[in-house]
Amino acid sequence: MLDFIRNEKRTHFAGRLNKQNAGEKVTVMGWVHRRRDLGGLIFIDLRDVTGFVQVVFKPELEDVHRKAGKLRNEYVIAITGNVVLRDAANINKNLPTGEIEIEVESLLFLNDSEPLPVQINENVLAEEDLRLKYRYLDLRREKLRKIILLRHEIVFAIREFLTRQNFYEIETPMLMKSTPEGARDYLVPSRVHKGKFFALPQSPQIYKQLLMISGYDRYFQIARCFRDEDLRADRQPEFTQLDLEMSFVTQEEIFHLNEELFKYIFKKTIDIDLETPFPRLTYNEALNRFGIDKPDMRFGMELIDLSDILKESEFKVFSGALSAGGCVRCVVAKGCAGYSRKQIDRLTDIAKHLGGKGLAFCKVEEGSLTAGISKFLSDEEIKNILKSTEAEAGDLILFAADTNKIVFKVLAEIRNHFGRELELYDENSHSFVWITDFPMFEYDDENERWETAHHMFTLPKEEHLKYFETGEYEKIEGQLYDLVCNGMELSSGSIRCHRLDIQKKIFDVLGFSEEELEEKFGFFLNALRYGTPPHGGIAPGIDRIVMIMSGAESIRDVIAFPKTLQAADLMSQSPSVVAKGQLDELGIKLTETDKEK
Ligand code: AMO
Ligand code: AMP
Repeated sequence: MLDFIRNEKRTHFAGRLNKQNAGEKVTVMGWVHRRRDLGGLIFIDLRDVTGFVQVVFKPELEDVHRKAGKLRNEYVIAITGNVVLRDAANINKNLPTGEIEIEVESLLFLNDSEPLPVQINENVLAEEDLRLKYRYLDLRREKLRKIILLRHEIVFAIREFLTRQNFYEIETPMLMKSTPEGARDYLVPSRVHKGKFFALPQSPQIYKQLLMISGYDRYFQIARCFRDEDLRADRQPEFTQLDLEMSFVTQEEIFHLNEELFKYIFKKTIDIDLETPFPRLTYNEALNRFGIDKPDMRFGMELIDLSDILKESEFKVFSGALSAGGCVRCVVAKGCAGYSRKQIDRLTDIAKHLGGKGLAFCKVEEGSLTAGISKFLSDEEIKNILKSTEAEAGDLILFAADTNKIVFKVLAEIRNHFGRELELYDENSHSFVWITDFPMFEYDDENERWETAHHMFTLPKEEHLKYFETGEYEKIEGQLYDLVCNGMELSSGSIRCHRLDIQKKIFDVLGFSEEELEEKFGFFLNALRYGTPPHGGIAPGIDRIVMIMSGAESIRDVIAFPKTLQAADLMSQSPSVVAKGQLDELGIKLTETDKEK
C-alpha cells in the first residue's frame, strides 16, 4: 500500500511555487495539511518546510483519485502534476502560492500518521507542557516554523556581516574550567580524572580574551552557553550568544560595529530600517529616569523625584524614608484617576511583591489632589507636586518612598505595567538604547564585601583609577555597556582589563586570596604577562534577538528544543536517572537522600 520514492525527484518546494510556474510539470513532497472534498474534487493543502501549496485531484484520473480519498491529515505524500492558474474567484491573497494550484497526475503515498496528540492548527493550541512533550509535532506549526527559519536567516546574516568585517569564527571548548560569569555551573564529571569535573561554559569569555592575546584580533562565535540559574520568560539554561571580541578598539568602535550589524540583519531578514546611532543613557540616567538599567524606551512616563519637595512632609511614610536616607519618587498614569480601589490594590501588590512597603496614590483634579494620601499633604506640597509632575486633571499619581534601590525597582515595574496596560507603545516598534558607565563594584551589605557589579575583567575608566588608592571603590566606573531593546537586555560587553597591574587591583578589592586567584584564574593571569593587546567585546544573546525580531513572547518559541521553566526537557524526559554502572565508572556515589528523591 505504501510507496517508496524510488526514482522520483522533488523539483520544487511547495511554498516557493507561484504564477511564474504556471504551465510547468512539478513534483512536490510533503505532508497533507488539510483535505477538502468538493463535488468530486479532492483538494489538499500540501505542506513542506517552505509553506503550503494547494493540489487538486480530479475524478477523471480514477486510480489516483481513489488513492487520494484515503489520505488523512499528516500523511506524507509526493505528487507530480501541472501548475495551473486559479480562477480569479479562487485566488487566496493570504498565501504566497495562492494564485496557483497543482492538478495532480500521479501520487506516491509515502507514509501514514496516527492522529496527532497535539493539534498543529494555530486556533486550538494545546497546553504548553503537552506541546513540549511532542515538540517535534509542535514544530510543524506555521508560527514556530517561521520563527525557527527566521533564526537561521538572522544567524546567516550575522556570519555574513562579520566575515566581511574581517572577523574569524573560532570555536572554543565546551568542556572547560568553571568561568566566573556569576551563575551556577553545569558540571561534567571526568571518568579519566575521578573526582574532578569540567564545567560547561557560561560564556566563552576567558577563551575569547585568550584569543586576543594569541593575536586573532577579530573573533566571533555563535556560542552555546550554559547557566544553572532561575529561569524566566527570557532565560534558558542553555542559550546562544553571538560572542565577539576585538583588539585595539574603543567603546565607540564597538558601538558602531554593533549598530551596523543590527541595521544589517533587521534590513536583510525582516526589511526594517533601524535608525542609528542608537541613543545612549548612562547607568545613572537610566535609573533616575526609568528606575532600571534596561528601560523600555518605547514610551515616556518617566520617574519624578519628589524628595526635595517632601522633606518636611507630615506623611510619615515620606518623611521617614527621606530621613533614613532614601527618596520619594512618583510616576503619573495619564487619565487613570478613575481607577478603582481594586485596581490600585493590584498595583500595591506589585510594589509589595518587590519588597516595597506599599504604594501611595493621589488623584488629580483641576489644580488639586484628591483621594489616597492627599489629606496628608499641605497646599504648598500639592502645588509643588503638580508643578514637578505636570500632572493634569484625570491623572493618577503613584508614589514610592523607600531606599533608592526599592523605589527604583517598584516604580520601574509599575511603569512597565502601565506601558502594557495602557498600550503606551506600538508592539511592532524597536527601541534600542545603549546603557553606559556602569559602576565596577557594588557593596554587598549582607556579606560585607565588594563584588563586581558586572564583569571583573573590565578596564576601569582611566580617570577613576585613582580611587583604587583612596578606597572610594563605589566611585569607580568601568568601560561597561549593555544594549537594550524594548526593555530587554540584548547584549552586554566591556573594554577588558589588558594590564595585569590593574587586574590585580580589581582582585584586591574583591578580596581574593593569592591561592584562590591562582587556583581559579592562574592560567589567565599568567597569559596577561605576555603582550596582551588592549581589547574589548560584547555578546548579544541570539535567542533574545530572535524574540525581538519575531515578536515571540517566550524564549521557548525561538529555540527548536527548549527546556521548561523547571529546566527540564519534557520530550526526552531529561534530566534523568542514570545506571549505577555509569556512576561507578565516574566514581560517583549518590547520597541516600538523593536516591530517595
Ligand atoms: P552576559 O552574561 O550579560 O555577558 O550575557 C550576554 C547576553 O547573553 C544573553 N543571555 C541569555 N539569554 C538567554 N538565557 C539566558 N539564561 C541568558 N543569559 C544571558 C543576554 C545577555 O545580554 N561574557 C559576557 C559578554 C561580554 O562581556 O562580552 C557575558 O556573557 O542577551
Ligand atoms: P499606611 O500608613 O501604611 O496605612 O499607608 C498609607 C498609604 O501609603 C497606603 O496607600 C500604602 O500603600 C502607602 N505606603 C505605605 N508605605 C509606603 C511606601 N514605602 N512607599 C509608598 N507608599 C507607601
